[in-house]
Amino acid sequence: MTSAKHQPLPTSPMQSELIAGLSRDRKHLPSKYFYDARGAALFERICELPEYYPTRTEIAILRAHLPTLSAQLGPQRWLVEPGSGSGLKTRLLLEALDQPAGYVPIDISAAQLHSYAQELRADFPQLNVRPLSADFTADLRLPPGVERPVIWFPGSTLGNFSRPDAQAFLRRLSRWGGGAGELLLGVDLIKPVEVLEAAYNDPAGVTASFNLNLLRHLNREAGCDFDLSQFRHQALWNPEIGAIQMFLISQREQQVQVAGQSVRLARDEAICTEYSHKYTTDQVAQMGQAAGWSLRAVYTDPKRWFGVFHLECV
Ligand code: AVI
Repeated sequence: MTSAKHQPLPTSPMQSELIAGLSRDRKHLPSKYFYDARGAALFERICELPEYYPTRTEIAILRAHLPTLSAQLGPQRWLVEPGSGSGLKTRLLLEALDQPAGYVPIDISAAQLHSYAQELRADFPQLNVRPLSADFTADLRLPPGVERPVIWFPGSTLGNFSRPDAQAFLRRLSRWGGGAGELLLGVDLIKPVEVLEAAYNDPAGVTASFNLNLLRHLNREAGCDFDLSQFRHQALWNPEIGAIQMFLISQREQQVQVAGQSVRLARDEAICTEYSHKYTTDQVAQMGQAAGWSLRAVYTDPKRWFGVFHLECV
């Protein structure tokens, strides 16, 4: 609930978005605001945690199957990555591709994109790196000459979209190559609840810090006054939607200022900060099919915890 006491108008789209999310019966904050510099560093630490299996597992799948995958893709392909680079995974893929025609990282942050492109040119001097500064969730045009793209979307980032948004995003990707091209999609698979919940509730508290850092970021960027010590992290499997949901739980009844508006939180009230959907291989194949992609192959680990899906535009 927002109070009408001061009623200043929200001054930025970010602030309006926060107020809208905190005015709902089930409060919500957008997970895209996790990733300030500190949040990005905390996420890197999460990827190294023993409980957080997705990164390690996806890398192992790539190491095991890249020769096959590369042979299937053939020579002279353009690699196109929505997001400015997934570190080791992207490097492994670039090394495995047969004489890649070039690499197009796409990111909304021009500064981040530029420094990433520089790093990559230093590491791969032969590679034609053509960064594209754009919002990859909106419609976009690939640079001229980039044909039959191999779109690379690892890390189960797709899981952070709602299921309908994930399908709509895949549909959008299918238009990037004008009806031609392939998609390599890394997706976290459904598995025992204990494994899933442990991955988002590490005993070292890194995921908790990552979650709470969202509030620190909003305090700085959106004129909020969240007291981080008055919230605790929680992550739970929601079987109805097939997702891990992360929450920040209010430790007491409190009022928080958000862009000049007062938001009341009850004791134990939850703010949902992230959905991380998990899929079966069939669900990915069906969703891909409905979005204009047909499944060529799926590569997985011995426990079938994670899948790298090779899809082709139909
Ligand atoms: C970036 N994304 C795929 C991660 C996930 O697993 O959903 C973000 C994350 N949140 C908590 N731990 C990791």
